[in-house]
Amino acid sequence: MQQVKIGIIGIGGMGQAHINSIADLKNCYVSAVCDIDAEKIKNFNSENNVQAFADSDTFFKEADIEAVIIATPHYFHNTLAEKAFGYGKHVLTEKPIAVHKADAESMIAAAAKHPELKFAAMFNQRTIPAHRKIKQLIDNGELGEIRRVNWIITDWFRSEIYYTSGDWRATWKGEGGGVLLNQCPHQLDLLQWFFGVPTKIRANGAFGKYHKIEVEDEITAFLEYPNGATGVFIASTGEAPGTNRLEITAERGRLVYEDGKIEFKRNEIPVSEFSATTDQRFGTPDLWNIAIDVPSSNPFQHRDIIEDFANAIIKDIPVMAPAPEGINSLEIGNAMLLSVIKDKTIDLPMDSNEFAVELQKLIDNSKFTKEASAGMPAEEDFSRSF
Ligand SMILES: NC(=O)c1ccc[n+]([C@@H]2O[C@H](COP(=O)([O-])OP(=O)(O)OC[C@H]3O[C@@H](n4cnc5c(N)ncnc54)[C@H](O)[C@@H]3O)[C@@H](O)[C@H]2O)c1
Repeated sequence: MQQVKIGIIGIGGMGQAHINSIADLKNCYVSAVCDIDAEKIKNFNSENNVQAFADSDTFFKEADIEAVIIATPHYFHNTLAEKAFGYGKHVLTEKPIAVHKADAESMIAAAAKHPELKFAAMFNQRTIPAHRKIKQLIDNGELGEIRRVNWIITDWFRSEIYYTSGDWRATWKGEGGGVLLNQCPHQLDLLQWFFGVPTKIRANGAFGKYHKIEVEDEITAFLEYPNGATGVFIASTGEAPGTNRLEITAERGRLVYEDGKIEFKRNEIPVSEFSATTDQRFGTPDLWNIAIDVPSSNPFQHRDIIEDFANAIIKDIPVMAPAPEGINSLEIGNAMLLSVIKDKTIDLPMDSNEFAVELQKLIDNSKFTKEASAGMPAEEDFSRSF
């Protein structure tokens, strides 16, 4: 079987997890790694058939690779991807695809000049069967027209030591955002995958409300969609126990996804038809209670995205999670933050420069001093971060 030679840039928590995932795959292998931290790559060398590089220029020039996985902090995703395209390498980038929409636009324009190269993003939660089922129910019209969407996603709790475990984390300069940019890109991607991009966003948020950080650790956003549907998106890294509850109210009834279960209360008659035709003043449509039994987790979610990426390269077919779609979740997250900063409603498509300028002001005006890095606890199971 043909095997794609993959190089990984950024051998931290996620980069190492990708190395472990690839060890299980037959359609690719890791032929090179790159990290600016010598400690992270000291165990790789040509003797174990993995080339190690301490800078990306030499890596791209000399590494024996066909494709690259970018697992560095977010600010480097777009610059490294653009560099990779210049060297004719296929790219799978970690989420978010960039820190702000303007950088994503530049990266997507660079990718468009190389249609022969695959360009995927690590939206691993798209592989989860429950998420695929919800997408299928929406796309098949099973729910009918959507009227309201509520997503409470507050089970991304993070401790102080998490934030001090990396100098770049939770700073405007090193990360460019908080819960919207690090933890919630998965749900923001699913939100746009399920429901498309809203036309208006108004948000309330707090910076360092529950942690000694300067970026947002809580957000409550109100969304408006082109068909008039509304939405509320609530995220936090400060709550425990947290909630992951998606409620979709539609013509055909109400779907709730919570505690790993999908429950659909299906109206026998669509609600607007019932409203227009019933002779009852206080009645509601008769219901069927449907429990949809699909797994709500996938322990191999990252591995599946990498396998799909390698397969797409070998067979020259589309990838499951195209990176250009990552601009949608980024725009939604950027717009929420911009709404908080400017205390105004943001119309979408948003002005990408407006957000880039505001982010630069936050970086320039930052007086925040990060506590000394606590490093990564050696024995911690990184998969608990997913
Ligand atoms: N898909 C997921 O489920 C998931 C989970 C966790 C993290 N992530 C993403 O992975 C990325 C990395 O997160 P992490 O938790 O592994 O961070 P980390 O700090 O553990 O690792 C980042 C690594 O990148 C290296 N690095 C930094 N700049 C570099 C450069 N210019 N060139 C080469 N190496 C460089 C660092 O030395 C470090 O080893 C982030 O963008 C994050 O959002 C995704």
